[in-house]
Amino acid sequence: VARAPYVLATISHKGGTGRTTAALMLAWCWAASGRKVTFIDADPIRSASLLALDENHRCTWPNVQFASGMDSLAAPLTGEIMVIDCPNLLDCANARPVLEESDGIILTCLPDPLSIRTVPAAASAIEAAKAVNPRLELLGILISIYNERDSVHNAMLARLRDAHQDLLLEPVIPYQPEVRDWPLHPGTAPPPGPARGAYAALTETLDPWIAVARAV
Ligand SMILES: Nc1ncnc2c1ncn2[C@@H]1O[C@H](COP(=O)(O)OP(=O)(O)O)[C@@H](O)[C@H]1O
Ligand SMILES: [Mg+2]
Repeated sequence: VARAPYVLATISHKGGTGRTTAALMLAWCWAASGRKVTFIDADPIRSASLLALDENHRCTWPNVQFASGMDSLAAPLTGEIMVIDCPNLLDCANARPVLEESDGIILTCLPDPLSIRTVPAAASAIEAAKAVNPRLELLGILISIYNERDSVHNAMLARLRDAHQDLLLEPVIPYQPEVRDWPLHPGTAPPPGPARGAYAALTETLDPWIAVARAV
C-alpha cells in the first residue's frame, strides 16, 4: 500500500512574504532530488500557477504534478510530498481547508519590523487550526528574503536568532534579483543561485521531519 504523502503548506498572515516562491522552490528542490511531488496552488490569486505553468498551462518540471484550485485538495492525495501554496490566513474560507489537510506548515516572514509584528497573529490562527487538525505542526518561521547588506535585516535576524532560535528555520533565504525576475519566464525552473541553494539546503533540514511523520 502506498503511503500517504507528507502535506506541507507555506502560510503567512501578511502578503508579499515569499510564501508562493518558497512553496515553488521547495517543490522544485525536492523533485530535483528525486522525490515525487504534488504541488497545489490553493491561493485564489494564482501566483504559483502564473509562475510555474508554461504557455500551454502545463508544469513541465520533472517529478512534479501541478494542480490549481481548492478542488484539487479534495482529490486523493498522491506523491511523497505535497506542497501547498496556502492563501493568506486572513482569507479564512480558503485557508481553513488547507490547514485542515496539512501535516506541516512553514510561516514565511520578512526580516523587517512590521512583518515580524504580524507573527503572533499568525500563531493564533495556527493554534485555532490545531483544534481542528491536531496533526498540524509548525515546522518553523522562514526568513524568505534576507538582504545581508540591510542593517535592519541584520538586526532583526540577530534578534530572532536570539529569542526564537527553536522556531527559526535555517538556512535563511537570501535576496536574489533573478528570483524576483523569475516570473518573466513562466514555466521555467527556478533560477540557479544562492536562493535556490538555500532552499535545497532547507529541504534537507525538513527531510527528517517528513521521514518521522510518514513512518507513523
Ligand atoms: N529570495 C528572493 N529574492 C528576491 N526576490 C524574492 C525572493 N523570494 C521572493 N521574492 C520576490 O518577492 C515578491 C513576493 O514573493 P511571493 O512569493 O509572491 O510572496 P507571497 O506569496 O507571500 O505574496 C515576489 O516579487 C517574489 O518574486
Ligand atoms: Mg503568493
